[in-house]
Amino acid sequence: MKAIVVTERAAGTAGMKLVDRPEPQASINDVVVRVHASGFVPTELTWPSTWTDRLERDRTPSIPGHELAGVVTALGYGTTGLSVGQRVFGLADWYRDGTLAEYVAIEARNLAPLPGDVDFTVGASLPVSGLTAWQGLFQHGRLQAGQSVLAHGAAGAVGSMVTQLAREAGAYVIGSGRAADRQTALDFGAKEFVDLDNDALEDIGKVDLVFDVIGGDIQKRSAGLIRVGGTLVTIVGPAEARPSDGLAVDFVVEADRAQLSEIVQRVRDGRLRTNIGNISIFDDAVTALNPTRRRKGNTIIRVRP
Ligand SMILES: NC(=O)c1ccc[n+]([C@@H]2O[C@H](COP(=O)([O-])OP(=O)(O)OC[C@H]3O[C@@H](n4cnc5c(N)ncnc54)[C@H](OP(=O)(O)O)[C@@H]3O)[C@@H](O)[C@H]2O)c1
Repeated sequence: MKAIVVTERAAGTAGMKLVDRPEPQASINDVVVRVHASGFVPTELTWPSTWTDRLERDRTPSIPGHELAGVVTALGYGTTGLSVGQRVFGLADWYRDGTLAEYVAIEARNLAPLPGDVDFTVGASLPVSGLTAWQGLFQHGRLQAGQSVLAHGAAGAVGSMVTQLAREAGAYVIGSGRAADRQTALDFGAKEFVDLDNDALEDIGKVDLVFDVIGGDIQKRSAGLIRVGGTLVTIVGPAEARPSDGLAVDFVVEADRAQLSEIVQRVRDGRLRTNIGNISIFDDAVTALNPTRRRKGNTIIRVRP
């Protein structure tokens, strides 16, 4: 099969190569999926799991990409819940070969059915950003209707999902980002926007939940804006700051079939809009994943045209 591999950490995305690799076999509880579309998170080549297995043994050349939409072609021993020929989408294990390939072996529990009226390209754009937003807001942030949320990077892949899901849940959303992101953030449902390069963040007053996708100084200043009993949720590593009287939570997104189904249902009925910045065919994927100009939103690779 055709697959994109990486062998050298230092080379980053410039070290990606499109090569021939053996097709994967389904282990216990796995399915093999013929990948139709794959997502890629630009920072994943900095994660240790891209380079080693769980025992920290080198697993290069490894196949990156962790979100996908495709069709099940084989079931491993003991696999239940999915069948051959079924359309699926979901999140691949961080420590195994990923989804920038024609086939991937993946635990069935990491996948959900992809309804027939949702395009594979859309399906592949939802797992990382949708699940991260869902888990950060509702599991870790315990968001309630009527609360206020500061959604950093609201025009980005995760931030745009955070903005929409929080708004739908009845929260008052303040988006943040660059000056040029204002209208995009408002279109996704933010009521106000903070231009982090030019506005005073502190002018927004107190909020119940900060959803941090940036870290550093922005995270530290945001922690000071959290109301008593509120929460700082961050997805960019261990929290460096905490609210004076509240919680700080950092987490890594997990696959969850029920949540994937909630997310895709919202896309079908128009409550949620995916944020795709660029779509490329597989033969051009290495170029698309090394853009000369940074694009907003997800880059999706159409592995099967
Ligand atoms: N822990 C987890 O499970 C998890 C899951 C998903 C993603 N992540 C991480 O979360 C981060 C965001 O992911 P993403 O896919 O949403 O990225 P993204 O699409 O690039 O969105 C980030 C947004 O924040 C903006 N931004 C960043 N720094 C800024 C600053 N200093 N001032 C103003 N705006 C700023 C970006 O604008 P510019 O592009 O103009 O900088 C962009 O619009 C990444 O580091 C990713 O690795 C973690």
